[in-house]
Amino acid sequence: PFIVTEPCIRCQYTDCVDVCPMDCFVEGPNFLVIDPDGCIDCSVCVGECPVQAIVNAREADAAQAPFIALNAQLARQPGWRPITRSKAPPPDHADWVGVAGKRALLQV
Ligand code: SF4
Ligand code: F3S
Repeated sequence: PFIVTEPCIRCQYTDCVDVCPMDCFVEGPNFLVIDPDGCIDCSVCVGECPVQAIVNAREADAAQAPFIALNAQLARQPGWRPITRSKAPPPDHADWVGVAGKRALLQV
């Protein structure tokens, strides 16, 4: 499957959700994940993300690899909800583009 990685945290542009034919995206407080059970590897979501947060799990680098299990886990997290329509990003989204170490800010 494809996975959402660190750049999404606190940016949450949600452009990705509009194009997914399988409605795989699941939203939490400040991050989105892809439900690996629904993803058909079509890759159309990849180009929609303004911060390049979506990658193929098979091509994940060392920093992205922990997000493979995290996407699977958080897709089933109580309180996390499917999201199929884009919405406005957080008011401070621009402040978080390219910021390193956002993994520590992930809210579950
Ligand atoms: Fe959805 Fe395709 Fe992206 Fe998988 S790769 S999350 S099926 S748009
Ligand atoms: Fe996140 Fe990018 Fe989608 S920031 S919500 S993966 S468009």
